[in-house]
Order: sequence, then C-alpha cells, then structure tokens
Amino acid sequence: MDYYNHISKGYEELYREEQEEKWEVLKDYVDVRGKKVLEVGCGTGIITEKLQEAKELTAVDKSRKMIEVAREKGINAKFLVADATKLPFKDDEFDLVISVTMLQDLEDPLKAIEEMRRVGRKVIFTCLAKGERVKLIREKYGKGIPCGKDELWIIFK
Ligand SMILES: C[S@@+](CC[C@H](N)C(=O)[O-])C[C@H]1O[C@@H](n2cnc3c(N)ncnc32)[C@H](O)[C@@H]1O
Repeated sequence: MDYYNHISKGYEELYREEQEEKWEVLKDYVDVRGKKVLEVGCGTGIITEKLQEAKELTAVDKSRKMIEVAREKGINAKFLVADATKLPFKDDEFDLVISVTMLQDLEDPLKAIEEMRRVGRKVIFTCLAKGERVKLIREKYGKGIPCGKDELWIIFK
C-alpha cells in the first residue's frame, strides 16, 4: 500500500495510457446507465471518470493518497477509503461492481472477488495477465478475455 501512497501524484504519468488501452476493451462490456455502480481499487479515478453516467457511483481504494488525487478531479462519484476484502456495504447493494488492475496486488484475490460478488449482482474485474495472482483467478474462473496487459472476467449472480 505504501507503494501507491508514494506514487499517487505520478501514477497517471506512469499508467494512464496503459489503463486507457484497457478501457477501449472494457467499454464494450460496461453499461452503467441507470445503475447503482461500485468501483473497487479506483486509484486516481482513471476508470471512475468513464462511469459517471451511472445513476449512483461509489469508488473505493485502500490508499488514502490515491483517493485524495481522485477526489481533486471533481468526478461525480462518492470516494471512500476501504479494503476490497472487507467492503463496507450490504449484500447486493450494487447493480454492478467493477475493478480494474487491482487484484494482482492482493495476497488473496479470490477473497476480494467473493466480497465483490457479495455486494454486487454483476461483477466485472481485470487482473494483470502476468504474475502469480492471476493463476489463482484462472484456476477458479477459467482464462479471462484479453484486455491490454490484463485479463477480464464477467460474473453474474
Ligand atoms: C494498478 S492500481 C489501478 C488503479 C485504477 N483501477 C486504474 O485503473 O488506474 C491498483 C489500485 O488498487 C488499490 N488497492 C490495492 N489493494 C487494495 C485493497 N486491498 N483494497 C482496495 N484497493 C486496493 C491500490 O491502492 C491502487 O490504487
């Protein structure tokens, strides 16, 4: 977490282009209109910006500094500091939960996916396609759809 607190101000310079490429794939799977939407691991809000047509939009991240940068942008969303493995929401509170490039950072990504499934009726998530954590996700959910440097999964309840 210290890593993201440390790089919060320079994050977009490093990663915006990469995340925009992922959005080019994601946007065909994501329709937020009229929906109550939660984004988990929103970082500085690169994806949050694209979700503003939602009926209600909430975005959470564990890094206080990343949330601070996101808040400064004036995005039409409610930003909260929260942990993906312990979301402060009720069962089925959201129509759609989305998480982009967060799961590779978690020791137990499957726990966070279960938590997102608990609070949302539909869950769309991506994970970096290299590294160890993505293997755990593939074992449970099969191989994901290619999405830039990530793989993408869509889960309905
Ligand atoms: C690679 S960044 C992606 C940020 C954003 N989704 C984007 O597309 O630019 C990963 C983000 O996940 C957040 N994160 C890592 N572990 C988390 C956790 N357990 N709960 C919530 N957010 C977490 C980090 O703070 C960071 O902002």
